[in-house]
Amino acid sequence: MQIVRTSEELASGVAILKGAGTLALVPTMGALHAGHMALIAEAKRRSARVAATIFVNPTQFAAGEDLARYPRREEQDARMLEQAGCDLLWMPSVEDIYPQGFATKVHVSGVSERWEGEARPGHFDGVATVVAKLLLAVKPDVTVFGEKDFQQLAVIRRMVRDLSIPVEIVGLPTVREPDGLALSSRNAYLSEDERRRAVALSQALNAAGDAIRAGTPVTSVLQEAKQRLVDAGFLQIDYLALVDAATLEPLEQARGEMRIIAAAKLGLTRLIDNIAV
Ligand code: PAJ
Repeated sequence: MQIVRTSEELASGVAILKGAGTLALVPTMGALHAGHMALIAEAKRRSARVAATIFVNPTQFAAGEDLARYPRREEQDARMLEQAGCDLLWMPSVEDIYPQGFATKVHVSGVSERWEGEARPGHFDGVATVVAKLLLAVKPDVTVFGEKDFQQLAVIRRMVRDLSIPVEIVGLPTVREPDGLALSSRNAYLSEDERRRAVALSQALNAAGDAIRAGTPVTSVLQEAKQRLVDAGFLQIDYLALVDAATLEPLEQARGEMRIIAAAKLGLTRLIDNIAV
């Protein structure tokens, strides 16, 4: 696996990979886990060559968030990617991505506005801007994202369509711990006690999904799911909602393809999760 940092190194590395056929890109912020590795495996299935990026993107962290303490494990990450058969790893610096004078923002309206967009002001502008830059720099045939960040996937799909970026987007189901907790780089922040309680999030979503499928009124289902989180010790629930899977608009009654999405804080750690209904 070739490791590149500057855009010049990237350009020559990518040119060589493209000579061997199709190229897939998997963007990440590192601290890799089995969820990220599932994206790499899918990228390998779909493409002759696979490139990954590790870039802890400062513009997608709102003021007061965990940018400074976000886990960084470059060497371990590089080993994992190498073992998974990744061909190229791009680890740009902040200056490579945002050189002096950088003044452009990609803003996706509509689908980015509620939920994470409301709880984390500016977050999706940061995500859309960096993902646009990564896609334009690598110009992959395919790019793979996780449904773990369901709204992010919807925002990226919208952006790629609107800007006519010529890439196929693949979304992959969330990889979970045996007890149901969605894998996340931020799980590393949880104390042992919090880790035990964290399972309540996926349990609340699954119970809510079952209740909605059984025809229970949406309002009472969501109320009960929130209560489960409170009982498990979640202090702040940013949202727990039934939404249309395409538009992310809230639903008061079950219809069509739906998703239950949630974000809540356990101690200082903010966890997000979602399930299909
Ligand atoms: P990061 O949180 O590192 O996630 C990178 C990719 O891994 C995303 O597509 C995310 O949805 C996926 N992922 C994370 N946990 C997963 C799990 N348990 N199962 C399956 N996929 C999972 O998302 C970002 O980084 C950034 O916002 C990024 C898109 C790289 C832009 O900076």
